[in-house]
Amino acid sequence: MLTDSYHRRINYLRISVTDRCNLRCVYCMPSEGIRLLEHADILSFEEIVRVAAAAVRLGIRRIRITGGEPLVRKGVVSLAGNLVQLPGVEDVSLTTNGLLLADYAAPLRAAGMRRINISLDSLDAEKYRRITRGGDIQRVLEGISEARRQGFAPIKINVVAMRGVNDDELVAFARLTVERPVDIRFIEFMPVGTSTGWERDRFIASSEIRDMISRIGALHPVDDRAVSGPAEMYRFDGAAGRLGFISPLSNHFCDTCNRMRLTADGKLRTCLFSDHETDLKPHVRGGSGDGALEQVIAEAIRTKPKGHDLSEPTFETCRRAMSAIGG
Ligand code: GTP
Ligand code: 5AD
Ligand code: SF4
Repeated sequence: MLTDSYHRRINYLRISVTDRCNLRCVYCMPSEGIRLLEHADILSFEEIVRVAAAAVRLGIRRIRITGGEPLVRKGVVSLAGNLVQLPGVEDVSLTTNGLLLADYAAPLRAAGMRRINISLDSLDAEKYRRITRGGDIQRVLEGISEARRQGFAPIKINVVAMRGVNDDELVAFARLTVERPVDIRFIEFMPVGTSTGWERDRFIASSEIRDMISRIGALHPVDDRAVSGPAEMYRFDGAAGRLGFISPLSNHFCDTCNRMRLTADGKLRTCLFSDHETDLKPHVRGGSGDGALEQVIAEAIRTKPKGHDLSEPTFETCRRAMSAIGG
């Protein structure tokens, strides 16, 4: 089992398979998009599997496929199948905006994926279109229904909370968990990259959201920190689904961080907010053996930063856009 220099066990790998996206969410990308990676710079699926296999030999147990939007990359289903089959992998999942999910839920399930996270920041079609700069909410809702039909569980809905944007809908989101077997997770708006339009006035702390939704009923903590990652999970009495709070600003969870990230162009990032990256591409393309690749990854893990305090006035965000990191 690999631990970093702060005794954190690193067992979770997020793999961004593309920096492309079929949406332009206001908090993630500028309207004109970002400068995209060249095709030749993007790892092939064979290369990704090779990195993942090395990471799994080092102790990675859970893998999440991210983007941009991962479902826009052709062949992602067979990648998922190959990752599921790596000996030692316990869980492979995916974070998607859901636009293409209605078509992909069945093949992903058949490839062995059991759970899925979907971004949805508004329940109102017009507002959803504004936040995503053009997205059709109907397709996302169909995607969620299809994921449920295919037996994905849990289905986690990610809601980035933004004042003046969707704060009037947070109670309605929370209410969904009473009747429906979904996890709604509120995420504090993070200043990632230089084009999120993050402003202090837009930010809503998890504690404030909790206050807003307390009028629905009492929230009971659900203790499954081991599987819920950065989210603190709760449930209303008798509710079918759960509620979660991801609070990177108000309650930052760097002390228990178990993850690292592989970007589409083959850089290992051991912290979301640190631009300190280890380029694996020369190793996967340059003929390094598996042992050498493992050593490079192990060294990167050892130098994982202690963390970042986003609430510090001196906090400096990273250069990469969220879409090029994978969240
Ligand atoms: P599971 O716990 O495996 O379901 O996944 P997850 O919640 O980590 O993944 P998801 O892609 O759904 O991310 C939800 C939110 O958590 C996104 O806004 C991510 O950017 C954020 N997040 C995930 N990991 C980290 C992290 O290490 N640091 C910070 N600050 N935010 C993170
Ligand atoms: N702050 C918080 N969450 C964000 N995401 C993207 N950008 C931000 C941001 N600036 C979320 C997306 C998606 C997940 C991968 O990251 O909504 O659910
Ligand atoms: Fe695309 Fe996700 Fe960024 Fe929205 S948040 S633009 S869906 S990568």
